[in-house]
Amino acid sequence: MQTNLLQNKVALITGGASGIGLAIAEKMFEAGCHLAIADIDLGKAEVAIMSMAEREQQKKIAIQADLSETESIRHMVATCEQSMGPVDILVNNAGFQYVAPIETCDPRQFQKLIEVMLVGPFVATQAVFAQMKERGWGRIINISSINGKMGAPFKAGYCSAKHGIIGLTRVTAMEAADSGVTCNAICPGYVDTPLVRNQLSDLAKSYQLAEGEVLEEVILRHVPQHRLLEAGEIGNLAVYLASDLATGITGQAVNISGGYVMH
Ligand SMILES: NC(=O)c1ccc[n+]([C@@H]2O[C@H](COP(=O)([O-])OP(=O)(O)OC[C@H]3O[C@@H](n4cnc5c(N)ncnc54)[C@H](O)[C@@H]3O)[C@@H](O)[C@H]2O)c1
Repeated sequence: MQTNLLQNKVALITGGASGIGLAIAEKMFEAGCHLAIADIDLGKAEVAIMSMAEREQQKKIAIQADLSETESIRHMVATCEQSMGPVDILVNNAGFQYVAPIETCDPRQFQKLIEVMLVGPFVATQAVFAQMKERGWGRIINISSINGKMGAPFKAGYCSAKHGIIGLTRVTAMEAADSGVTCNAICPGYVDTPLVRNQLSDLAKSYQLAEGEVLEEVILRHVPQHRLLEAGEIGNLAVYLASDLATGITGQAVNISGGYVMH
């Protein structure tokens, strides 16, 4: 990947302290942007920021933000803008998983999934949208999932949020289409991150399998490439979508799933 694709851009990545968000942050910083990592866990966000080598003329900051809280999201955007200038690239990535059959699914967990992974991205989009359109350039990248295109048992809230954010992506793209701002969703398959590793025991219970069987039986057997993806692969795609190389791509929900989903 070219090293200067995102030079002078300001990128704000939610949930950027771990997994996919961290990989996107690293790849975008390598591509030359100023970087804000926002996360509910400020300590982890600071560690992530410090792990990146100092680069002359590139600023980087950690921001505490809870994507289920409107005021916290607005404060996150304002803090980023005060330190580095208007947000050019917003990556709505923060998320979590909760696995349970519908009969025993806790409605508060269902609601929280929708708040963090659908309402939060909407509020963040709202906070950057007007200035992006006025300035004639912007990128909004929403991290959906293959579970935004297909159902998965025991993931009612997660699948609902991930389907919903594809709808939000399309509306955002249409409202911005004549302004130099694009909005796309990335739909990863299973990526080797804490979110996937931590759900294996709950999946084992719900599928009534031994924990050691879950990875093969529930996940890898459906993946033509028969592997978990690396988070950096998602990072490379995000850099591309954020760059001027992808100006004509908007309103898309792009799969990166080792062939798991092909529509
Ligand atoms: N790992 C996968 O296989 C996979 C596949 C498809 C989509 N995704 C999506 O990618 C995104 C990142 O997932 P990941 O696998 O890297 O998970 P992860 O658990 O490694 O990282 C998620 C990050 O989000 C942060 N976060 C959680 N709730 C938050 C909140 N309320 N406010 C702010 N930050 C919060 C966490 O602190 C963490 O740093 C999520 O939206 C997830 O649904 C992951």
